[in-house]
Amino acid sequence: MNILLIGGGGREHALAWKLRQSPLADTIFCAPGNPGMKGVQQVPMLGLKEMADFAVKNNVGLTMVGPEASLCEGIVDIFRERGLCIVGPNREAAQLEGSKSYAKDFMNRHGLPTAKAAVFEDEASALAYLKKEGAPIVVKADGLAAGKGVIVASTVAEAESAIKACFSGTFGKAGARVLLEECLFGEEASIIALCDGKTIIPLASSQDHKRALENDLGPNTGGMGAYSPAPVVTDDLWKTIDKSVLKPFLKGVQADKLDFRGIIYAGLMITDKGAKILEFNVRFGDPETQAILVRLESDLVEALIKLADGNLADMALKWSPKPAVCVVMAANGYPGSYPKGDVIEGLEQAEQTGAVVFHAGTKEIDGKVVTSGGRVLGVTALGDTIKDAVDNAYKAVDKITWNGVQFRRDIAHRALNRP
Ligand code: AMP
Ligand code: GLY
Repeated sequence: MNILLIGGGGREHALAWKLRQSPLADTIFCAPGNPGMKGVQQVPMLGLKEMADFAVKNNVGLTMVGPEASLCEGIVDIFRERGLCIVGPNREAAQLEGSKSYAKDFMNRHGLPTAKAAVFEDEASALAYLKKEGAPIVVKADGLAAGKGVIVASTVAEAESAIKACFSGTFGKAGARVLLEECLFGEEASIIALCDGKTIIPLASSQDHKRALENDLGPNTGGMGAYSPAPVVTDDLWKTIDKSVLKPFLKGVQADKLDFRGIIYAGLMITDKGAKILEFNVRFGDPETQAILVRLESDLVEALIKLADGNLADMALKWSPKPAVCVVMAANGYPGSYPKGDVIEGLEQAEQTGAVVFHAGTKEIDGKVVTSGGRVLGVTALGDTIKDAVDNAYKAVDKITWNGVQFRRDIAHRALNRP
């Protein structure tokens, strides 16, 4: 079967790497892909209708979508109208990620545990509410803001400037509506699941590292590293998550008659009052996927076809017991502005250690791989223990260098330092 993968980051490289291992896969196309994707045909990313034409013309039997933007624009609706098999929620259901107020309303109506929040469409009412609630408080632009639309404000002044930024157009249309949310405290975990509207199957747990700097300092990023499983998700907590998050999510999808045959990602805060949902994404996490997929022993193509066809009930996933760690190597200055075009050295030597080097922001120029994005690589390794996996990942990281490379040395610190 020919497969089309949409996207070109580290998550998509991990997906391509895993899809390629399937005996069901013939040609794999990736739009736009990246230079790390060996054995995958990179094709230009066109408009959504043109991508559907491409899929028909190239006899694509399965399309998998990485990034949220295409899902929120309705790629699934367009492909299904053409009779194509595609994994993902349709445009309506993708609002679970595309609009935080839509997601909050869904959670409240269906009894999913989440922080208290109020939604505002004008600055004056938001500021009045802030005055009443005080800080700390979380200010969230309603729409997609490339991971930058959430400000955890520790002071009223900080919250005030975040509210003003939203309403003055910093996030464009995404900030025209603003949520003010109760600030939660605890350890975060990412729960990613396959959901076909009838069955929901969680993948292995994982944990991201959002902050740019070690000790969880500095600005929020797309994610500086991840590991799987996340020991904070104990067997008991899994039971609670199944009962209070996964099952109610599925019931909510059914009650709202949403066409959800895709990936649901619940970002959780494990508070002392239990797990609460910070956000939904309707796609695989990045870099969580890199750490999760190297542990998946089952055939991903088979799972995705069953997901798209609504036959997930027949699927059981098998996992390696070995933990995995992904360390993101980023360009100097990320998540702010950063240079591009620096030559990356040591990629082969890193892979010779046994690690997998997933590319994210790279380009090939004159036979050399150079940096071309903020998050450049996701160096991923398994180990017998989480400590081994950390050591193996950093052994590979230490083979790679470029001018201005930055990464965190403390990925998986919470797992390593658990009592
Ligand atoms: P989101 O894009 O909603 O995942 O938010 C990005 C990050 O902001 C999360 O991973 C958390 O670290 C933080 N965050 C979001 N909502 C809250 C909240 N209610 N309380 C504390 N931190 C939050
Ligand atoms: N790693 C966070 C995300 O994918 O949204």
